[in-house]
Amino acid sequence: MTEDAGADCWRTERVGVVGCERCPELVDSRSQIVNGVGPDDADLLFVGEAPGANEDEQGEPFVGRSGDVLDDGLRDVGLARQDVRITNCVRCRPPENRDPTSEELDSCGGYLDREIAAVDPAVIVTLGKVPGELVLDRSVAVTSEAGDIDEIEIDGQRWQVLVCVHPAATLYDPGQQTAFDEALQVAAEYAGESGQSTLGEF
Ligand code: URA
Repeated sequence: MTEDAGADCWRTERVGVVGCERCPELVDSRSQIVNGVGPDDADLLFVGEAPGANEDEQGEPFVGRSGDVLDDGLRDVGLARQDVRITNCVRCRPPENRDPTSEELDSCGGYLDREIAAVDPAVIVTLGKVPGELVLDRSVAVTSEAGDIDEIEIDGQRWQVLVCVHPAATLYDPGQQTAFDEALQVAAEYAGESGQSTLGEF
């Protein structure tokens, strides 16, 4: 990720970005900037690729069909959506849901670095190839690495990274469901260590 790429539009008190216009095509295609949601001291920080149409409309990551899969997976391992923080590599919806370009990933990567540093999660869970490769800064074979833990260093501080299948992958390839579920089970063990689940309250 680009060092400090997002310093100017980052708002520390919101743990998010305001008014960024770094990527002209995304400024045109977005309705709004979709920042991360969830506790700013969460044990688990989930990182997706980019907002889609539903996220762009509602201003929240993973609220479409992928979000339903993520919510169901979290529930199955004893977690609720509000227990975790959820964000994306890129905060603006790419036109026609195309993949973010490497320039867009670079431009937004500094914001993700800042979110990681602010939240200081026990583990960063990368959802799919694009987030896995951006965060780990190497190529990632998601299906074979799902459930594995790696480490990254940003500005001298280290974080654990858990590779996970993207929730949407389970929709077009049900064979990926087990790898997704197993990775979430690993994630839950990190959350369990500080007892952050709120499911017991309901
Ligand atoms: N919704 C998101 O917010 N991110 C994704 O990667 C997919 C759907």
